[in-house]
Amino acid sequence: MANYLTTKMSKNGLNVVSLFNGMNTGRQALENLGIKVNKYYSSEIKPYAIQLTQHHFSDTIQVGDVNNWKDWNIDWKSIDLILSGSPCQDLSIAGKRAGINGNKSNLFFVFIDILNHIKSLNSKVLFLQENVGSANKLDVGIMSRALGVYPVRINSSLLTAQQRDRYYWSNIKTRKTLFDLVTDIPQPKNKKIMLKDIITEDYCDTDKHTCLNTNSGKSATQTYLKHRNKTTGMITLIYKENNELRCKTNTLKGYDVITENDCLNLSFPTSTTRRGRVTKGKSPCLMESNNDLYAYKNGIVRTINQVEMERLQGFNDGYTSILSKNKAGSLLGDGWTLPIIEHIFSYMINK
Ligand SMILES: C[S@@+](CC[C@H](N)C(=O)[O-])C[C@H]1O[C@@H](n2cnc3c(N)ncnc32)[C@H](O)[C@@H]1O
Repeated sequence: MANYLTTKMSKNGLNVVSLFNGMNTGRQALENLGIKVNKYYSSEIKPYAIQLTQHHFSDTIQVGDVNNWKDWNIDWKSIDLILSGSPCQDLSIAGKRAGINGNKSNLFFVFIDILNHIKSLNSKVLFLQENVGSANKLDVGIMSRALGVYPVRINSSLLTAQQRDRYYWSNIKTRKTLFDLVTDIPQPKNKKIMLKDIITEDYCDTDKHTCLNTNSGKSATQTYLKHRNKTTGMITLIYKENNELRCKTNTLKGYDVITENDCLNLSFPTSTTRRGRVTKGKSPCLMESNNDLYAYKNGIVRTINQVEMERLQGFNDGYTSILSKNKAGSLLGDGWTLPIIEHIFSYMINK
């Protein structure tokens, strides 16, 4: 496999089809590894994802909705690598769990149709499919049988300050067991990057209205610090008691203690089941719609800023600066972790 690819890479470069291309992480990973690309086809429907992709790689060929793949003008037998980060909403623990047949996650089967079509013309085509670690076992089994390979499970926390548990199915490096083929990408070496290593000294002006200065409370026995939530009005989530800064949770103790450089997930402020709002050392998983991640630094509880979100997914500072924070957060929360994809692709070269 390596010889075939090495020749291809040193001559014209790889031809890549990236389905559900999002913020184009696959292309950036190839670029960072110095892997030459000839043609890069992107299937994506979100306008600001396309805008960011074209900003960084203006030669990307946008082919639109994946459902129309039979109309695409692509020489399928020339495709060396196909990427698919098919939507995970129906598989994720954060969604309603309709499963792999749900009306978003079933786009995975369109990827299977395309992959099988390419394989019938080029049996050496490489692929990478990603999905959430919280997918249920039946769905993981169905996906594995459709792909003919079992996945490797990697947490982005090994290479970034973010907890992000994901399955990766790939034939870039495989191992045969008694009955099955398994993805054999080794776990990356733990870089032990913590939130304190990536957090910035300052925060965006636009985030100031959501800040809590925990030092400015009155010296009463219990000083409540209010978190203003747009749907519920004022609600007490963070307060000082017994010289501790606490965040309300629905555990027996009723709270988590917050210390410097912790991350807080204040989504669902009125939830009666919410536990573990405070993450020590790392951030919880960024999500497409989650703008309620907070950091506690220098006595201030404030939202995670755009640069920090970029760093949590392993991108350079300012990578998404052409977009608003909300749009950037949506792409980063939905996207792949760049150094993890680089790690996987590195096995295409020389390992
Ligand atoms: C989980 S994200 C993939 C993220 C991507 N791997 C990255 O690193 O940014 C899924 C993407 O699929 C896109 N998508 C959803 N339906 C689609 C369709 N019918 N055709 C093409 N893309 C679609 C979404 O807009 C979203 O960006």
